[in-house]
Amino acid sequence: MTSYTLRKGAAEKTRADVVVVGVHRTPQGPQAAPGGEGVMAAYGRRLVPLLSTLGFSGRLDEVAKVPTGGAIRSPLLVLVGLGEQRELDPSAVRRAAGVAIRSVDNAASVVLALPATDDRQVRAVVEGAILGSYAFATYKSGSTPAGPGEVVVLSDGARGAGARRALEVARVVGEMTALARDWVNTPAADLTPEIFADAVVAEHRTRKPGKLKVAVTDDAALRAQGFGGIVGVGQGSAHPPRLVRLTYAPKGAATHLALVGKGITFDSGGLSIKTAGAMTTMKCDMAGAAAVVAATFAIAELGLPVQVTTLAPLAENMVSGEASRPGDVLTMYGGRTVEVLNTDAEGRLVLADGLVLAGEAEPDLLIDVATLTGACVTALGDRVAGVLGNDDDLAARAVAAGERAGEALWQLPITPEIVDKVRNSSTVADLMQHNVDGVGGAIYAAAFLQEFVGTHRWAHLDIAGPAFNTRAGYGHVPSGGTGFGVGTLVELATELAGRR
Ligand code: BES
Ligand code: MN
Ligand code: ZN
Repeated sequence: MTSYTLRKGAAEKTRADVVVVGVHRTPQGPQAAPGGEGVMAAYGRRLVPLLSTLGFSGRLDEVAKVPTGGAIRSPLLVLVGLGEQRELDPSAVRRAAGVAIRSVDNAASVVLALPATDDRQVRAVVEGAILGSYAFATYKSGSTPAGPGEVVVLSDGARGAGARRALEVARVVGEMTALARDWVNTPAADLTPEIFADAVVAEHRTRKPGKLKVAVTDDAALRAQGFGGIVGVGQGSAHPPRLVRLTYAPKGAATHLALVGKGITFDSGGLSIKTAGAMTTMKCDMAGAAAVVAATFAIAELGLPVQVTTLAPLAENMVSGEASRPGDVLTMYGGRTVEVLNTDAEGRLVLADGLVLAGEAEPDLLIDVATLTGACVTALGDRVAGVLGNDDDLAARAVAAGERAGEALWQLPITPEIVDKVRNSSTVADLMQHNVDGVGGAIYAAAFLQEFVGTHRWAHLDIAGPAFNTRAGYGHVPSGGTGFGVGTLVELATELAGRR
């Protein structure tokens, strides 16, 4: 376990295995960012030519390691690029802290002398370091690098209440993002709906976040209560579905937020089976559920005065003699019927049940998070989530919250002709599950979900791209599960609580 402490002091006089400073790129060459001036001055005039020899200019994501030879108290100096001065925002700081910490995985003690002049920057430094040092080693035999034992974040405002709260928020968001990543990275064989639900209960038991309650509905009860979407998707699996519910009702809550997360523990596609290639990452298809659950733990642990109702419908989408077939009609929770055309469009079916149930709690705002469509990845790439819904103001707030949290989101429309298609394409059921024309898949899926939100203000986050990083790590984002959504939801809840 790494300890994070805030301290006031000069980086060049602080002893640690590594000192990290930020560097801006300027027309005059690399220049110390706030917090790094003393170190760069102590190193002396040799530093800038040395950096140019190394090809380091201060661009965002650049990193250089330089032995200090006694010029400062620490033996190793790590310089990390922050881009141009005008680009310096908390997201750049978070990202740079992540880059820096990932480059020093063998150091026992690290001093971060990055820009930390205000509380948002303090939070970004700590968050970037926690998120960047994440590793999933559960299945690795032998010893794995444990990360630094001690990380000291230098800030002139270290003793202020605001900085201490920033450290606490960063710690909670960092830990809960790591929890979501762990769940996403766990192989589907070891995270069936039942095991996942038990893991949420176990996490609740160990954390004991005040005023947070957890309940699990099993498959028999789901069938009895008419959750046709969850049951229909899960019926082909040897591991039956579950529904996890978290409720957090603090005194003086300003708003009631309902969260619903897609929890497909593995998506084979069902009888409309995926190709081998498309299936390789499908243990990640419960990332939405992981994000809403982890965010709810974080909101409760931070004591934010927002009421939260969180639902995670969990099912495994598999192939068997019991699996649902194309052409089957499901009766969803609440009574609406849906013609299933493609068993691989399963996320919207479990979410539909979840959204109707969430609506019964009469929240002020309703948000679902889901690895829903490959079409969204085609539209926005694998680092940007789509936001769709029935309320432009909520969508804009989600985008803005993501910006503050270092998560990129972009709004897409729900168009009237696609709403018509959802309602009028089936000759046998109320709604058609799947878009027969192969275009506009992210919009069609959202238009389908919209049928189940009633008049509630609602936003849908399609995280199919950014939930799982199939490439190398970058910034504060590792490869594999990213925990995308946790930061954005906590940020949004903070805003709703009037704490921003
Ligand atoms: N879980 C997938 C979406 C997905 C794709 C998530 C890539 C992460 C990365 C979803 O259930 C799915 O299979 N969607 C289909 C929908 C189609 C059949 C309408 C898709 O996108 O191809
Ligand atoms: Mn699918
Ligand atoms: Zn899926």
